[in-house]
Order: sequence, then structure tokens, then C-alpha cells
Amino acid sequence: MRFLEAEFVKGFIRMANDGWEQGWHERNGGNLSYRIKAEEVEAVREAFEVKEWQPIGTSVPGLAGEYFLVTGSGKFFRNVIIKPEDSLCMIELDEKGENYRVVWGLVNGGKPTSELPSHLMNHEVKMLATEGRYRVIYHAHTTNVIALTFVLPLRDEVFTRELWEMATECPVVFPSGIGVVPWMVPGGRDIAVATSKLMKEYDVAIWAHHGMFAAGEDFDLTFGLMHTVEKSAEILVKMLSMQPSKLQTIQVDDFRNLARDFKVTLPEKFLYEK
Ligand code: 13P
Ligand code: ZN
Repeated sequence: MRFLEAEFVKGFIRMANDGWEQGWHERNGGNLSYRIKAEEVEAVREAFEVKEWQPIGTSVPGLAGEYFLVTGSGKFFRNVIIKPEDSLCMIELDEKGENYRVVWGLVNGGKPTSELPSHLMNHEVKMLATEGRYRVIYHAHTTNVIALTFVLPLRDEVFTRELWEMATECPVVFPSGIGVVPWMVPGGRDIAVATSKLMKEYDVAIWAHHGMFAAGEDFDLTFGLMHTVEKSAEILVKMLSMQPSKLQTIQVDDFRNLARDFKVTLPEKFLYEK
């Protein structure tokens, strides 16, 4: 099969373009990765052009031998739809989970996203936690969430509760909550360790003054999660811009009733009295 005709490749490109259209990917901001199913790998194997092994910069033994489709470092999301073979690459991991090699893409050179350690460590945590169901990790520079990291305390409880309150669907869409990583230097192992630790508990991690990571089963659910959190942040920014205090809001018992009817578990640590 021609590489660009595979459904997983088309889905990946559509998601990247949707993120661009939302305004979350200025210049080369943000990155996306998808853990490819075995039968999808076989369907495109004839298109492989295998390159040299390179170190990942961290160790992900749980992902040994897995294949990923990822955005390239320094590549613009804006260009993914018109030149995917320049903007993206498919990579294979070695049997230790310490090295990768490009097997397709990046036709004009380059390497996978500088956030590859964060993507792969998050994939490893999520694959284990969901018996392999989660396949997508998405990093975006979401404007309103970033703005909130300058005015809210950088605590999981505060971000989760404030964003839950802004839209009734939020506790149903991200019932386990949101983690917050304080400002750190991006692009390396340290921030990957901090983020993947939060991903054991949450599907969303905010990077203070930088952006967000979301994890999910497929492109729709992962994009939808990013979109829901960022929309809620936009409402909070608008509310705070009108006046600093709420006249009314969703109360703690309202969340408990919502959880019962929608059959989700909302951890009590987010339902504190204010
Ligand atoms: P890359 O271009 O290396 O993917 O980096 C973009 C980014 O958002 C870094 O956090
Ligand atoms: Zn970034």
C-alpha cells in the first residue's frame, strides 16, 4: 500500500491540520505521535527506507520493537497536510527501547520531535495502564491554558476543579483530572520523567508557561480531549476578564450528582470546599 493512503496516516495528518486550524501550533510549536498497530505496520512495510539507529535519550523497554508515526523536530504543523513526507516520520524502536531508526519520511533530513522522550515515556505508561488501548500522545501550545498558568496556583487540584467548573461536560470528559508540571526546560529526559509520572494518574498534563500534553485511544478522543480542556480554559479566561469572582457556579454536590448519573468516578481530592 502507498504510505499516504493508509488510514492511520490520513487520520494523523487530519489531526495535525485540525490543531493548526485551532491556532495551537505557531511556527514549529507542538508535536504528535501515534503507536502503530502491527497490521498497519505490515500494510506499509513496502514503502520503508530504513535509516541509521539513533539514541532516544531515555529508555522505554516496555515499547521495545514498537513503531510510531511522529512529527519531525522543527517542522511546522501548517505544512503537514501539503508535505507530509517532509514533516513526518515513521520510526521503529530497538529490542531494548533505547534507540530508534527512521523507516519512512523526513525526506529532506531532520529527526523526530525534540519531545520524543516525553512522547515515548507517556506512551509506555499509558500502554501499560490501558492494556494497549491508548495509542496517541499530543502536545499543543494551547493559548488559554498557557495564560492560566500565570494566574492560578500550579496545583493539580486547582486546575482540575477550576476547569471542571467552566463546562458541565468537563468532569465527564476528564474525570481523573489534570496534572501540572512546573516550568522546566523542555525537550529532554527530566521533563519526560515528570510528565510521565503524572500520566500514570491523568490523561492530561499541563506544562506551565508552555502548553499541554494529552493522551488517548485514538485521534478523535485525543484531539477532543485537548479541545475540551482548552475550551474550558477559554471560558475561565473570559470569566476572569469580566470579573474576578463568580456569582454562581457548579457546586460540589452537583459534581457528585453528575458523577452518579454519568457513571464516572470523580476523586474526592478535587471536590474540596472553597
Ligand atoms: P519540535 O519542533 O522539536 O517538535 O518542538 C516543538 C515544541 O513544541 C517543543 O516543546
Ligand atoms: Zn512545546
